[in-house]
Amino acid sequence: MNVLIIGSGAREHAIAWKLSQSEYCDKVFVAPGNAGTSDFHTNASIDIHNFEELAKFACDFNIMMVVVGPENALVEGIHDYFQNSEYLKHILVVGPTKAGAMLEGSKDFCKAFFSRHNIPTARYQTFTEATYRDAVEYLRNHSYPAVLKADGLAAGKGVIIAQTFDEAIDALEDLLRNKKFGNAGSKVVIEEYLQGIEVSVFILTDGKEYVLLPEAKDYKRIGEADAGLNTGGMGAVSPVPFADDAFMQKVKDRVITPTLTGLQQDNIPYTGFLFIGLMNVNGDPYVIEYNVRLGDPETEAIIPRIKSDLFELFRALHDHKLGSFKLEIDPRTAATVFLVSGGYPEGFEKGKVITGLENVDKDVLVFHAGTKIVNDKLINNGGRVIAVTALGDTLEEALAKANKAAETITWQNRYYRRDIGFDLRTIKAGI
Ligand code: AMP
Ligand code: GLY
Repeated sequence: MNVLIIGSGAREHAIAWKLSQSEYCDKVFVAPGNAGTSDFHTNASIDIHNFEELAKFACDFNIMMVVVGPENALVEGIHDYFQNSEYLKHILVVGPTKAGAMLEGSKDFCKAFFSRHNIPTARYQTFTEATYRDAVEYLRNHSYPAVLKADGLAAGKGVIIAQTFDEAIDALEDLLRNKKFGNAGSKVVIEEYLQGIEVSVFILTDGKEYVLLPEAKDYKRIGEADAGLNTGGMGAVSPVPFADDAFMQKVKDRVITPTLTGLQQDNIPYTGFLFIGLMNVNGDPYVIEYNVRLGDPETEAIIPRIKSDLFELFRALHDHKLGSFKLEIDPRTAATVFLVSGGYPEGFEKGKVITGLENVDKDVLVFHAGTKIVNDKLINNGGRVIAVTALGDTLEEALAKANKAAETITWQNRYYRRDIGFDLRTIKAGI
């Protein structure tokens, strides 16, 4: 069977790598892919927003399954597009339709869903330009820090943690009046700040049954010790030591089960991954957000821990048999370190030749993101460039291997965080 993966990051490379190990997969295509996915999969040079072209490709290449990596294609309705076509509706699309994707596409919609179904989350209120004055009053009486969020998709940049009332007013003005995020900021969610430690929990679901995937923790800030600007992700670790059986039972009972019941009550069909961004507040899970896809760079850490055949897992989704699917998980720890271009997440230079890949230890996985081949040379072509993942019996061992690989691969001004997992190591040592 032929599969088409939509996206061009290390997440999609990891999914392609895993799917191509399945005896049921003949060809794995990635649209548009990157230099890494062109290595042993086939790239289709198609814009992910061009559904017509993607559909044509799916017909021409006898695609039976489409796995959607990024959220924007889902929010724009790629699943609906396939579902509504006579020629495409037999294709299993892994990723929800527009209605389900709203859980990520609108923070206000998502928060209302939490409220309606009693899912633990930060207290909030939503405002628009018309209720600007009410928002100012609300912020005057709010505790600090306060969190302001652009309602729509803002490529991970639409969340502002305001330390003071003045900072909150500046953020409010930027969002609602100066339209810093365009239409995505036409509504603003203001919510209470949750103090705790984050964990990313993933399920694959048909809206009724689900399979719990390994959890992970990602590291978003550019600087060591979580300092500096937010990025698309600098590294990840899986499993997460504090997400033990007792904590995960609370996640199932208080979050996952009410979420699936809520989807059914609200008549929202859902076929795909659900990424539950959680804050562990004194041992209790609170949902920060839902994403309607896998996380990046979490995927690069969790996929290598899945021993089961990914294609078979997707087939169980298609056949509504997830409830009886036994997912086999590697008990070892995976650590992912992202190599980025110097200057990222602000300005950086592209086109530098990447060297050292051939010297990476053979048991380390290398997933490409912003890479390209020009004149037979591998160059950096984005901010986040390559993710390396290593498995180890302990977190320390996995991190040592991943850091060694990160040091081995280089180009002018490449940067990576040497302290991925630092907070989990501290917890373990009881410091
Ligand atoms: P989001 O775009 O919703 O994932 O938010 C980005 C990041 O902001 C999250 O990963 C958290 O680190 C942080 N964040 C979002 N909401 C809250 C909150 N209510 N309390 C504390 N931190 C938050
Ligand atoms: N790692 C966070 C995300 O994928 O949104």
